[in-house]
Formats: sequence, structure tokens, C-alpha cells
Amino acid sequence: MADRIRLDGKVAIVTGAAGVIGTATIRLLAERGARIVAVDRRERDLKAAIAELPATAQAVAITADVTREDEVADYVRAAVDKFSTVDIFYNNAGIEGEIAPITKYPLETFRRVIDVNVVGVFLGLKHVLPIMLKQNRGSIINTASIAGLIGSPDIAVYSASKHAVIGLTKSAALECSASSVRVNCVCPGLIESRMLSAIIEGRNPGNAPVPTEKLAERIPARRLGHASEVASIVAFLASDDASYVSGSAYTVDGGRVAS
Ligand SMILES: NC(=O)c1ccc[n+]([C@@H]2O[C@H](COP(=O)([O-])OP(=O)(O)OC[C@H]3O[C@@H](n4cnc5c(N)ncnc54)[C@H](O)[C@@H]3O)[C@@H](O)[C@H]2O)c1
Repeated sequence: MADRIRLDGKVAIVTGAAGVIGTATIRLLAERGARIVAVDRRERDLKAAIAELPATAQAVAITADVTREDEVADYVRAAVDKFSTVDIFYNNAGIEGEIAPITKYPLETFRRVIDVNVVGVFLGLKHVLPIMLKQNRGSIINTASIAGLIGSPDIAVYSASKHAVIGLTKSAALECSASSVRVNCVCPGLIESRMLSAIIEGRNPGNAPVPTEKLAERIPARRLGHASEVASIVAFLASDDASYVSGSAYTVDGGRVAS
């Protein structure tokens, strides 16, 4: 397909960049010309993800924990020091937590999931928005989930955290409405990934892996999604082609939520 969306020279911060969706996204954004600031708390995997970018890509890796405000401020400052600005912010780091019903769910894990998935997203917004508002330009994409739109047994806390991400997205979009800064989120469905495998395994402990065809039965597209398909929507929302899109929650789920 022709490269319809170019991001030449744009500076993009991507958190969770060592993960499955983050890695696919830094690759696509770099292929489309963006300069990348890749953030994750897993240093070795982050460096490996950067090493696989096209040779022409301009990219830096920053090891940081998105739940720590000082480290968030540092990664934003490092991006500005290196590239002078931030045009795109993919606020994507997240964890699934434990897979268990509410009655058995440890409070400590509840707090950790909220810390990473909600506080982490909030801190990213808090520190990137001032830069974008000052320059009156920028696009933020948070990663929610279809679990932010519907309930999900055994991942109630994850689901609650992703509902919160959608609320943060809509409210941030409204706070930016007097500017040209846009804030949206993506809601991936069942994406072929470590996280999906962990959730499926957690729901069926000790049993044989659930076949992909079985997982796909309730998806109108009759297949799992690919991380690259989430990245494509992030690239679109990041671009000027989405200039009239703000406050939205884009499903990337093969029609799952519509069914
Ligand atoms: N995989 C799916 O099917 C799916 C579906 C819907 C939504 N999502 C969401 O997409 C996002 C990416 O998921 P993924 O599938 O790539 O998962 P992943 O586990 O492969 O990647 C998540 C990344 O976030 C990083 N991270 C976690 N906590 C962090 C912290 N405190 N500070 C910095 N980095 C941290 C991890 O190190 C990891 O590299 C997550 O927000 C997830 O909830 C995934």
C-alpha cells in the first residue's frame, strides 16, 4: 500500500516501547519518518527494539517507570533536550495484573494495576500537555482496550483501569479544546501477544492452550488482531489526517465490541 500517512520530522514519545504493541508502533512511526523517543522500564528489551528499527531512524531509548513522576518528567525533558519538541505522544505502557475473580483479587495487585495503567497515563498527560499546549500543536494517543468499553470476568481491575483511561482521554481532549492539541485513545481487542496469552492462560490454569480458532469464534473478523494493526491506527491519529478527531476511543478489534 502506498504510504498515505507520513510523519516526517515529527517527534514521537512512545511508552511501553519494549512491548508487543509498542515495538510495532515505534517501527511504523519510524518507517513513516518520525523521530522516536522510546520509553520502557525493561532496558534490555527496549534496546533490542531500538536496534531493529530501520538504519535511517533517529531514535533514543530511555529507561523509566511511568508510575514515578520524577522519571516521567525526566523522559519528557530528555525528549525536548534531544529533539527540541514533542509532536506525538503514544501513552501506551500497561500491565494486565493477575487473572482472578474479584473475590480472590489481591488488593496490592489492584493498586499496582491502577498505578501503571491509570496513574502512568495521567502522569504522561500531565507532563506532555504543557509542551503541546505551549506550541499549540500535538497529538496524544492513550492505549485503552475493549476492556475499557465492556466488562471482562477475571480481569475486572484491568477493565476498570481501561475504563479510566477512556475517561482521562475524553476529559483531556476537552481541556485542550481551545488549542490544536488532540487527545484520543485506541481500544485494541484480542491482539496476538504475550498479554493475551497470559490472560487466556490465567483463565484456564493448567489446561491445554485454547486454540486460536476457538478465541476467534466471537470475533466477527474470525481472527486475532496484529500489533501492526493497532500501530496503523496510532499513526493515523498521530497525523494531520486526523485533524478533526479528538476525544475518541477507536476500537481495533475486528468488530468484537459491535457484535
Ligand atoms: N495485547 C493485547 O491484546 C491488548 C489488548 C488491549 C489493550 N492492550 C494494551 O496495549 C498496551 C500494550 O500492551 P502489549 O500487548 O504490547 O503488552 P506488553 O506487556 O508486551 O507491553 C507492555 C509494555 O509496558 C511496559 N511497562 C509496564 N509497566 C511499566 C512501567 N511501570 N513503566 C514503564 N513501562 C512499563 C512493559 O515493560 C512492556 O514492555 C497496554 O496498555 C495493554 O493494556 C493490549
